[in-house]
Amino acid sequence: MSTSVENSIAIHTLIENRWSPRAFSNESVSDEQMEALFEAARWAPSAMNEQPWRFIYATKEDEAAFKQLADCLVEGNSWAKKASVLFVSIAKKSYDFNGDPNAYAWHDVGLATGNLLLQATELGLHVHLMGGFNAAKAKEVLGIREGFEPVSMGAVGYVGDPESLPENLKAREMAPRQRKPLNELVFKGEWK
Ligand SMILES: Cc1cc2nc3c(=O)[nH]c(=O)nc-3n(C[C@H](O)[C@H](O)[C@H](O)COP(=O)(O)O)c2cc1C
Repeated sequence: MSTSVENSIAIHTLIENRWSPRAFSNESVSDEQMEALFEAARWAPSAMNEQPWRFIYATKEDEAAFKQLADCLVEGNSWAKKASVLFVSIAKKSYDFNGDPNAYAWHDVGLATGNLLLQATELGLHVHLMGGFNAAKAKEVLGIREGFEPVSMGAVGYVGDPESLPENLKAREMAPRQRKPLNELVFKGEWK
C-alpha cells in the first residue's frame, strides 16, 4: 500500500504516518482511547482561548447512538460505517465573553481536530475525516444546540484490509498520496 509520504525534508513521524483509510478492521477502539484523543484536542490553541470545539462520538458497541451518527453520512461515505467509532466535530459560532461572531471558530476546531489525529496516530489508530454528511440532520438528531454548527465527521479505528473494499474504493486506497509542491504554497516576503 502506498500510504507513505514522499518527501526529502524530514518531518515528524506522527505526521508522516497519518493517513485516511477507508478500510477499517473489526478491532474496537475503547472509550479510554477516545478520551486520549479528545484530551489531545483539548490542548489545542484557540483565539481568545475560546476552545470553540465540541465533539459528539459513539462507539459501535452503542448501536443506537452509532446508527444516529452513521445515518448522517452521505452514501459515498458508507465505508465509514465499518469503523469502530464515529464522531462529529462542532464549532461554537460566537465568543463566550461578548457574544460576537468568532471568525476563527472553524479554524480552531480544525486545530483541535489536528491534535486528535496525531494522538490517534500515536496510539496506532487511524482517523478519516469527512465533510460528506448531512449537517442539518446531525443538528436535529444529535440535539446540537443553537449557536453551534457541525464542522466535520470522523471515522476512527484500526486499518483494515483494502481487499475488503469495493473496486473503486480499493483503487483509491492503494493510490499514491499526493501533495502540491511547497513552492506553490509558500512564498518568502511576498506572493510570487
Ligand atoms: C474537512 C475534510 C473533509 C473531508 N471529507 C471527506 C469525505 O467526505 N469523504 C472522504 O472519503 N474523505 C474526506 N476527506 C479526506 C480527504 O480526502 C483526505 O484527507 C485527503 O485526500 C488527503 O489524504 P490523507 O488524509 O490520506 O493524507 C476529508 C478531509 C477533510 C479534512
